Amino acid sequence: MSFVRSLKCIDCGRQYSPGDSVSICTQCSEKGLGFGLLDPVYDYDKIGEKLNRDTLQDRKPSLWKYKEFLPISDESKIVSLQEGGTPLIKCENLSHEIGIKNLYIKNETVNPTFSFKDRAFTVIISRALEQGANIVAAVSDGNAGSSAAAYSAKAGIKCYVFTPSFAVSSKIIQMTMYGAKVFSVKGSLIDAGMLVIEACEKYGWFNITTAKVLNPYQTEGHKTLAYEICEQLGWKSPDWVISPVASGDSLGAIWKGFKEFHALGFIKGLPRIAAVQGQGAEPLVRAFKEGKQFFEVEQFEPETIADALCIGMVLGSWPLNTLKESNGNAVAVSDEEILKAQRLLATKEGIFVEPSSATTIAGLRRLINQGIIDKDETVVCVVTGSGLKVLDVAMDMCAKPVQIEPSMSELEKVL
Ligand SMILES: Cc1ncc(COP(=O)(O)O)c(C=O)c1O
Ligand SMILES: [Zn+2]
Repeated sequence: MSFVRSLKCIDCGRQYSPGDSVSICTQCSEKGLGFGLLDPVYDYDKIGEKLNRDTLQDRKPSLWKYKEFLPISDESKIVSLQEGGTPLIKCENLSHEIGIKNLYIKNETVNPTFSFKDRAFTVIISRALEQGANIVAAVSDGNAGSSAAAYSAKAGIKCYVFTPSFAVSSKIIQMTMYGAKVFSVKGSLIDAGMLVIEACEKYGWFNITTAKVLNPYQTEGHKTLAYEICEQLGWKSPDWVISPVASGDSLGAIWKGFKEFHALGFIKGLPRIAAVQGQGAEPLVRAFKEGKQFFEVEQFEPETIADALCIGMVLGSWPLNTLKESNGNAVAVSDEEILKAQRLLATKEGIFVEPSSATTIAGLRRLINQGIIDKDETVVCVVTGSGLKVLDVAMDMCAKPVQIEPSMSELEKVL
């Protein structure tokens, strides 16, 4: 049984019934792309009657332990690869290096396809099955496509992934390995996304792209990341959560997760949320710093080493609202800072993340230097994808192994 009671427009507040076949507010969408995003609202009274901290704590760690907060009616349709329940790691070495007391990493690289997108796709594919889908399609520059492909494989349905020309080959290999048919579109993420929309309309495929602008339920799975952090900190909110941002859908979902637990009395305080983007692909940071609305940021050609964050526009007010409501912040970090942070996290904590995820460590440094984050505050950096997904970048940074003959004298010469 689903506890979703309505879909609420985040711009005008109008409510729709979950049974209405709307994906965007009919009143606001006329204003342009990104207007009228809808957000699922649940029957929190009913959820509160059923759940409390103890009932949740008694369930085994996994994303689906929070099923009451997820938009699924038929549990038999759930497609799971054991996603979620990821570690929250206290990073003493890194804390010492950066000069902060309490630093935690939420390690999403250990999800089934090695990124946090699995949280979204276990929900998306389960819902698609509920609705009778047998062919699905998505646009993705990598991680979402791999996740879409893996969950489609598990569900036994056909999956098409459309990638923009800048998608890295290792991520394309991953999605292909799971059995997806991949189309490399000679154009941007937006070009590829438009093609998916047209193809889905023409062929009747389900568009499973992780974009709130296409489907209000697509990023609900990401909320569970916040629930886990609360539980792992002993039912407390950290002072800050720092997360990497492209569309900002996951950022908004994480904030929503904290607000839901707060409203139900599971945690007392709320965190401040910080968004990090790569310099050269920082539309949200520009909007935030310049006090602009999302649609006032002109679209531009993005460029950053953080391939999963390569975006040149803000798609809706969801992430900006998150930063404002949480009294948060946003920061852009250079390629050089990202690579340094990636190396630092690997060598100090043994966590190898992709450049897009290392932005959070680089961002933390900046926010401390700017006096925005205090050294006594508790910070959680969300690292969203594994370093093994983007080996080309790592390869350029690492020394080649020393070639030696299999003898001790040879070893001694080079030691
Ligand atoms: C590894 C990684 N981190 C962060 C993001 C940003 O997520 P969002 O588009 O929800 O802002 C993505 C999106 O593709 C990603 O793959
Ligand atoms: Zn509206």
